Amino acid sequence: MRSGGLIALEGIDGSGTTTHSKILYERISGMGVKAFLTHEPTDGPVGRIIRDILSGKLKVGHDVLALLFAADRLLHVHEIYDVMRNCFVITDRYLFSSIAYQGLFLPESWVRSINSRAPLPDLTILLDVDVDTAMSRIKNRGKREIFEEREKLERIRERFLRLKDEFNMFVVDSGRPVEVVADEIWDIFRRWAGI
Ligand code: TYD
Repeated sequence: MRSGGLIALEGIDGSGTTTHSKILYERISGMGVKAFLTHEPTDGPVGRIIRDILSGKLKVGHDVLALLFAADRLLHVHEIYDVMRNCFVITDRYLFSSIAYQGLFLPESWVRSINSRAPLPDLTILLDVDVDTAMSRIKNRGKREIFEEREKLERIRERFLRLKDEFNMFVVDSGRPVEVVADEIWDIFRRWAGI
């Protein structure tokens, strides 16, 4: 039985990473097991700069944005590294978001190399959803960010799916109702953790 580790939920915008990270966190904690919920971009100083770029308030090149994501991630890792030894740390997005998103605009090998000091997650769940469903969810949220365009999301979705075998990701069809998806994630977690 495991008592800790890093669990990453990944997927395109509108795939439900925030919703399902929260539900998984609540279910684990509800069993009296130690869990910690976190996200990227973080709420730290670099994460705040990233948010301004995503909203279009600040303009920088894709290379600078990729470096900021990588720096934000390393600061994040320093924060959670000790915690994940005896606690399930659930992160809403992590390393594979950089490979999928920033790798669309930059050489993927470079994106991988600037992120090479970030440890691989112990469990990755890829929430896969078709872009029509994702776009309609994004529209209902109101605020828009720079990656939220159909054609970009199509290509980012393909990039995530391409990574699934190399990194042993569990792919969950996230186009279904929230409770159905949450139950499947819960089953994956329990089997993996041996709980
Ligand atoms: P998102 O989870 O959508 O934040 P919010 O729900 O607050 O809008 O993440 C923000 C965006 O950042 C999303 O479009 C994915 C993108 N992103 C990257 O491009 N690279 C990364 O490494 C990470 C972590 C996120």
